Amino acid sequence: MPTIVEVKDLKAYYHTHAYGVQRTVKAVDGITLNIPEGQVYGIAGESGCGKSTLLKVLLGAHKPPLYVVDGSVRYLFDDAQIATLSLDENTLRELRWKQVSYIPQGSMHVLNPVRRIEDIFHDFVAAHQQVSKAESTQLTRTYLRELGLPEKVMAAYPHQLSGGMRQRVTIALATILSPKLIFADEPTTALDVIVQRGVIQILKEIKRREGSTFVLITHDLGVHANLADRIAVLYAGKLVEEADSRTILKKPLHPYTKFLIQSLPRLDDRSTRVSIPGRPPALDNPPDGCRFHPRCPLAVDKCRTVDPAMVAIQPGHRVACHVVTEATEEVRHAATA
Ligand SMILES: Nc1ncnc2c1ncn2[C@@H]1O[C@H](COP(=O)(O)OP(=O)(O)O)[C@@H](O)[C@H]1O
Ligand code: SF4
Ligand SMILES: [Mg+2]
Repeated sequence: MPTIVEVKDLKAYYHTHAYGVQRTVKAVDGITLNIPEGQVYGIAGESGCGKSTLLKVLLGAHKPPLYVVDGSVRYLFDDAQIATLSLDENTLRELRWKQVSYIPQGSMHVLNPVRRIEDIFHDFVAAHQQVSKAESTQLTRTYLRELGLPEKVMAAYPHQLSGGMRQRVTIALATILSPKLIFADEPTTALDVIVQRGVIQILKEIKRREGSTFVLITHDLGVHANLADRIAVLYAGKLVEEADSRTILKKPLHPYTKFLIQSLPRLDDRSTRVSIPGRPPALDNPPDGCRFHPRCPLAVDKCRTVDPAMVAIQPGHRVACHVVTEATEEVRHAATA
C-alpha cells in the first residue's frame, strides 16, 4: 500500500505566556508515521493526548501559540510530493477542500444559518470550480442521493435539520469535491448512538465510493473498531503503538493500549469495565522516561529514565515499550539459539 502522508519525527509545541510565566506544552513530541493511501487511518488516545494538535499540523493549519519545532510532514500524491510545513498560505488554500479536506470537531457551525443547503453547496462548489447554479444543484442532488440523504434536505435551512442530519450534510459538503485526503476530528463525538450510526454509515459510503484516504481522530475506540483499517495509539504527545486495527483490538501489546481495549464496553459482557488508573500527565512537565510509567502496572526501573523507542515487533506492528521489546527479543533469541 503506497504512503500518502509521511510524518517524520514531528514535534509541535504550544508556547504560552500567562502572568509573566512562560510555558511550553509538548503536545506532539517526536511522532513518526506513514499513512497508507486509500485506507482509514485511526488515531486513538484519551482526551489531552495531542490528537487534535497532530491533526492541525498534518493539515498545515497550525498557528501561534502552536509551533512546529522539528520534523517534517509530506503529502505523497501521484502527481506531486508536497512538503507541507514550508508551504505559503496561498498554496495551502489551493490544496484545501479539492485535494485535502477537513471535517472539524463539532462541525455544526460551518453551515451558514441564513442560506438553504443547496445554496450553501453552490457557494462552496462555485468557489473552487467554474460551475453554473444548475450544474452545482445537479451535482449536489446526485451526491446527497448517493450518500443516502433525502432530497428534501436541499431546500432546508440548517436549523430545520436534526443534529445528526446536519452533521451528515457537513460531511457531504467537506467531501463533494472528491478530495484525496480527508481529515476528521471526533466526527461522531457528542452525538447519540443512533445518530452516530448514521454518521459512521456515511463515512463508510464515502470511502467506498471515492476511495479517499481518511485520517480519523477519535478517543472512541468503538468508532475505530467500526471504521479504521489501521490504528495509531497516542499517549501524552507520543505514539505508543501502531498496527492494523484487528491486531490493535485483538492482540494489543502496549500496556496503555491494553487498558484502552479493556475499558471498551462490550455488548456480550456485563462485567464492570476496567478503567485506567490515574490521568494523563500535563504536557508542560511530562514524566521522564516512558511517559506512561506513573500509570503502568509493568513499569521497571529503566522505564523511569529511558524513553522507549518505537520498535517493529512484527512487520506493520510497532510498539514503544521496554518490557514488550525485551520479551520479543528473548523469544527471538530463544528461537535462534
Ligand atoms: N491553545 C493551546 N495552548 C496551550 N495548550 C494547548 C492549547 N491547545 C491544546 N493545548 C494542550 O495540548 C495538549 C494536547 O491537546 P489536544 O491536541 O487538544 O488533545 P486531544 O485532541 O487528544 O484531546 C493538552 O495538554 C492541551 O491542554
Ligand atoms: S516502557 Fe515501561 S512504563 Fe512504559 S509502557 Fe512499557 S512497561 Fe510500562
Ligand atoms: Mg481533540
